[in-house]
Amino acid sequence: MRAVLIEAEGADARLVEDADESTLSGPVELDVLFSSYNYKDGMAIAGQGIARRFPLIPGIDLVGRVTGSEVEEYSAGDLVVLNGDGIGETRNGGFATRARVRPDALVRLPADLSPERAAAIGTAGFTAMLSVLRLEDGGVTPEHGDVLVTGASGGGGSVALALLAGRGFRVVASTGRTDENAEYLRELGAAEVIDRDELGAEVGKPLQAQRWAGAIDAVGSTTLANVLAQTSWGGVVAAYGLAQGMDLRTSVMPFILRHVTLAGVNSVDAPPDLRERAWDALAAELDLDLLDSMTTSIGLSETIPYAQRILAGETRGRTVVDVTQ
Ligand SMILES: NC(=O)c1ccc[n+]([C@@H]2O[C@H](COP(=O)([O-])OP(=O)(O)OC[C@H]3O[C@@H](n4cnc5c(N)ncnc54)[C@H](OP(=O)(O)O)[C@@H]3O)[C@@H](O)[C@H]2O)c1
Repeated sequence: MRAVLIEAEGADARLVEDADESTLSGPVELDVLFSSYNYKDGMAIAGQGIARRFPLIPGIDLVGRVTGSEVEEYSAGDLVVLNGDGIGETRNGGFATRARVRPDALVRLPADLSPERAAAIGTAGFTAMLSVLRLEDGGVTPEHGDVLVTGASGGGGSVALALLAGRGFRVVASTGRTDENAEYLRELGAAEVIDRDELGAEVGKPLQAQRWAGAIDAVGSTTLANVLAQTSWGGVVAAYGLAQGMDLRTSVMPFILRHVTLAGVNSVDAPPDLRERAWDALAAELDLDLLDSMTTSIGLSETIPYAQRILAGETRGRTVVDVTQ
């Protein structure tokens, strides 16, 4: 099999054309059809603490066709999608032509989605939907007012923006690349595009003017602190990322005076019923033309240099990895 391998902590990742398949383990064996590129994959390849066993095949997503199974739920020919569940971190992942995985977090590919589009959605898109569901479950509706998406040009942000606009929300997109990406973000459904410095340059007062009925945050840190301080009474902020930083210097004021909910989002360990709910909603709601317009495709051979680009915030939207290239 072809695979990207990180052989030891601190070692450079490399593409191996004849990697040893017997190193794979897990009851469901697959031909990987596509993987996708996430911020976390960039961190793994750059040696920034994601890989937690060695040797490791990175890639936190895969879409594949089952070729054999030791469990009765799956059989040869089934098309499946797997996001997280430790692949690309503590288990071998999707940057390879073959995989063996545990069945726990596998989801059957929804009938209307091609394998390539499911990979384009990937962990970032799946996480975006989990975040939208947090707003839904918290009772945030378009009638409550504007919703904010931070890190809007990124993979999670782009999908979150398209999903919220599709649900009828007036969405404000925050980006550090207004000149380059404002038109792209409007095409995805943003009613307004703001510069991320407006939210993230420094932490402001614990309570600020109420601007957001809800927010989906990819970046954490100063930005998230200010977003909480600007969230309206009863609003919900779904936090899934740390692109600006993992710190959060906030106060209890938004929670005790404005009834605000800070809703965490974790895709890696999401239970099966939540995975199915999110994938069904993605298949039903995500505009596939918009998905295509935000998707770039690269080959397995390009995954190693791509790490620096995603970590530098130079990529836009979602990136599919064609493991045969
Ligand atoms: N909780 C989970 O389960 C989960 C799942 C997936 C991802 N994540 C995390 O979510 C984050 C986003 O993931 P992704 O795959 O969407 O990554 P991505 O495609 O690289 O997007 C991240 C975006 O964040 C913005 N950004 C980058 N550096 C920033 C900074 N210093 N300050 C403010 N904004 C910055 C950029 O958007 P603009 O150029 O538009 O400003 C960038 O495009 C990452 O931290 C990732 O690890 C978590």
